[in-house]
Amino acid sequence: MTPSPLDNLDAQKGDLLAAIAALSTLDELRDAEPALVGRRSILAALQKSLGTLEPEQRRDAGALLQEARREVEGALETRRAQLAGAARRAALESDRLDLGDVVVGSIHPPVTFGHPGIIAATQRELEDVFVGMGFTVAEGPEVESDWYNFEALNIPPAHPARGLWDSFYIDLGEPETVVLRTHTSPTQIHLMEEAVREGSLPIHSVMPGRCYRRDAPDASHLATFHQIEGLVVDRGITFADLAGVIETFTRAYFGADISSRLRPGFFPFTEPSAEFEITCTICRGEGCRTCSQTGWLELGGSGMVDPAVFEAVGIDPEQWSGFAFGFGIDRCAQMRHQIGDMRALIENDARFLRQLS
Ligand code: PHE
Repeated sequence: MTPSPLDNLDAQKGDLLAAIAALSTLDELRDAEPALVGRRSILAALQKSLGTLEPEQRRDAGALLQEARREVEGALETRRAQLAGAARRAALESDRLDLGDVVVGSIHPPVTFGHPGIIAATQRELEDVFVGMGFTVAEGPEVESDWYNFEALNIPPAHPARGLWDSFYIDLGEPETVVLRTHTSPTQIHLMEEAVREGSLPIHSVMPGRCYRRDAPDASHLATFHQIEGLVVDRGITFADLAGVIETFTRAYFGADISSRLRPGFFPFTEPSAEFEITCTICRGEGCRTCSQTGWLELGGSGMVDPAVFEAVGIDPEQWSGFAFGFGIDRCAQMRHQIGDMRALIENDARFLRQLS
């Protein structure tokens, strides 16, 4: 019997399998493939040499070689799949963005974070002071009927006090004329009506919000501005309670060297009424241009709730008394941060806004 060209087949197959196992990338595999299983491979050479065998021997040897080829090709496909999987994982790994590692300052363009605007921040600080004094915070609508903005506040049609506030009316067709509220005082009416409806008197509330007037904007006026209203309705409330609350608030918000004073004034919905003034925050009471050399700055209005207002909402003025005050949030921000011109608040100049973060 002629020696078979397949005598070394096992060893040759072992070499091929070892070479396949040693392939470490898909590129290496692609380069090595022709030499491992292609036309230039040992398997192809052996296949060719089978022609020299006797037909009988050739059949057995052919089957053997076929078997070896299947094994080698199987190993090659398995390796191809392994390397392809590894390549995919490596690609995913290199694409992964670990957000824990992202340093914000390293992002381009740099990310900047916003912050509450000066008015929102001031409103929150004011609320905090009053909440600390035992007040709750309430809100009312910005669009009011004539009743809430004027009549219930003892300002009948054609009352001269309307002159100050006659403002942005929206005609929805009789009798539905509404007005953008000119102060936060109408929220007093909503609160008192609700307390009467629900039998929930007393009231100790502050009511911040946006207001509108036909003021031409200047250094200390804006047509859209913010007020915070205060209302206490309880038994046995006196003017001394009003003065005490105003003084406590003033020192808490502006600092211990700033105090308050009440000067006689007039509001249709309070009686007696008082202008609420504080020590000038610019000159600390010395007298300067801002305070017209008086040492005092006007912040808002205040007074004892007028019995006519109690009657309008159905509260018995013989049993209940109360005080109210209202002042500008924008004005507070202006004084506290010494903003020369209030129009800066609405100009959205980023250089200005950044200073007040
Ligand atoms: N509503 C008044 C104003 O806008 C201020 C005020 C509120 C006065 C409460 C007295 C009592 O000017």
